[in-house]
Amino acid sequence: MNKDIAEILVDEKEIGEICSRIAEEISRDYKNSDKKLLLLCILKGSVVFMGELMKRIDLPVEIDFMKVSSYGAGTATTGSINIHLDLQRKDMNDIDIIVVEDIIDSGRTLSHLTEYLKLKGAHSVRTCTLLDKPSRREVEFRPDYTGKIIPDKFVVGFGLDYDEMYRALPYVGVLRPEVYEGK
Ligand code: IMP
Ligand code: MG
Repeated sequence: MNKDIAEILVDEKEIGEICSRIAEEISRDYKNSDKKLLLLCILKGSVVFMGELMKRIDLPVEIDFMKVSSYGAGTATTGSINIHLDLQRKDMNDIDIIVVEDIIDSGRTLSHLTEYLKLKGAHSVRTCTLLDKPSRREVEFRPDYTGKIIPDKFVVGFGLDYDEMYRALPYVGVLRPEVYEGK
């Protein structure tokens, strides 16, 4: 195990089971849709989860990417997000979007992003997250597909980073506080 990791919260086996379960739910829910199914990966943290999830979905899927960041709490009461890389499509009203996220914390990113995608004209928008920390919510938000609910701890691995590090770990682990304290 990496020396900076205090504890493994979700191991490789459990992550595989989570991806298979969510892929089954998605395959069942969209089986009869006559729209195109688009998995929308939120860069960078969701790349690894998205790769595992898409392989297991038993339907034709398209993939796309957006890069967004939420304004810090208190800076914007109107609720906006910074869009660093946008979705460029002309067929918005012909697609069912599933936003694929690594983790939900305050809820700001996904609540603003789903509104934005609906305004852009998507036929439907749902959200899927590997991890959720509901105790951290600042705005009300419930994802449609959830991998695992976790306590309020800072985690890294399987795509999630601290200062761009640890994304390639094959599991989700709690980062030792010594790593970020005193920085
Ligand atoms: P929020 O729900 O808008 O507060 O933002 C969620 C985003 O914050 C995620 O996509 C991550 O980029 C980041 N984040 C929140 N909690 C963690 C964590 O424990 N580890 C790594 N990134 C996190
Ligand atoms: Mg993220």
